Amino acid sequence: MTDQSPQAQLDLIQKAFEHDFERFFPYARDPITLELDQALAEQRAVIELRTRHLGKKSALAASKKLIGRVAPEERAGFGQKVQAAEEKFDMLLHEVEERLREYIESARTARESIDVTMPGRRPRSGHRHPITLLRERLEDVFVALGYAIEDDREIETDFYNFDALNIPENHPARAWQDTFYTTEGFALRSQTSTVQIHAMQRRGVPVRMIAPGRVFRRDTPDPTHNPMFFQVEGLCVDRGITMAHLKGTVGEFLKRMFGPDTVTRFRPSYFPFTEPSAEFDFSCFKCKGSGCRICKNSGWIELGGSGMVHPNVLRAVGVDPQEYSGFAFGLGIDRMCALMYELDDIRLLFENDVRFLEKFE
Ligand code: DAH
Repeated sequence: MTDQSPQAQLDLIQKAFEHDFERFFPYARDPITLELDQALAEQRAVIELRTRHLGKKSALAASKKLIGRVAPEERAGFGQKVQAAEEKFDMLLHEVEERLREYIESARTARESIDVTMPGRRPRSGHRHPITLLRERLEDVFVALGYAIEDDREIETDFYNFDALNIPENHPARAWQDTFYTTEGFALRSQTSTVQIHAMQRRGVPVRMIAPGRVFRRDTPDPTHNPMFFQVEGLCVDRGITMAHLKGTVGEFLKRMFGPDTVTRFRPSYFPFTEPSAEFDFSCFKCKGSGCRICKNSGWIELGGSGMVHPNVLRAVGVDPQEYSGFAFGLGIDRMCALMYELDDIRLLFENDVRFLEKFE
């Protein structure tokens, strides 16, 4: 650079500035549409540009030292040119700096301002799970029939899950109720029938209770099975209780759940803790018995098991079967829920997908 004439050097300095400044020029001319942080970055870039072209170490500052080397008759003229270049750079930079500063200030104000006329964001309130909704309906029906509600443990000993329910060790009924065992001789209960035993031990007899709750089985999940599901157990023990009371109670419960024209049907069956035992079905709530997809065209929906409490179960809790008799029943809440809401896959109830759960209430 030094072998060029001062005037040529000054021309190069001006060119270099114009080249670097070109990009920023639109800020002085056009409306600015940057995001706030982009604008801040541009502001820093302009500061850097000013240092590079007008700072103490800039080429322009160096060119001032050349003034003395210019021939005396041209010196004043050259000095003025340097001065003019400096003023021009400063003016152009100043304009851009000002515009950016104003823009940043208003962008900050806009970001911090609150539109008090905007509607507030309504907090999303939670609601009950479909199984809870159904459980509460069941509870209401039985409370109205004079039943207490029992809630009991989900981890059990063999005694409550099997022995006291007349399922001794090596009884085949243990196999279809295979559950999850811990190493200390405990197991997750495979049926809410365990609460029959707890309730009679706690309350003595007579007793009338239902026990809704979670049960577990060693099942592979599929559209109709889940290793964890819900049942409700019912137990009524008193003097002179007969099968007629069982049929009347279950029939009344189903009428209150599904409407007064609901018909109940009992089929002989086997359960270790009842004798005699029966499974019960009710007339399809959808087609009223004529046959549809829900009842698989049979007109009936199978719901649960029941029977007269086995004398061995009464004996297991120290109740004299000569003096007392009772009935018991059990049914699956989630199965009932899946039927009522026409769910094709019972696992939907346990996946906790809010898009599904929000459909209820
Ligand atoms: N515990 C039985 C099950 O899980 C259901 C059941 C059947 C309960 C008959 C009862 C009953 O109380 O009497 O399949």
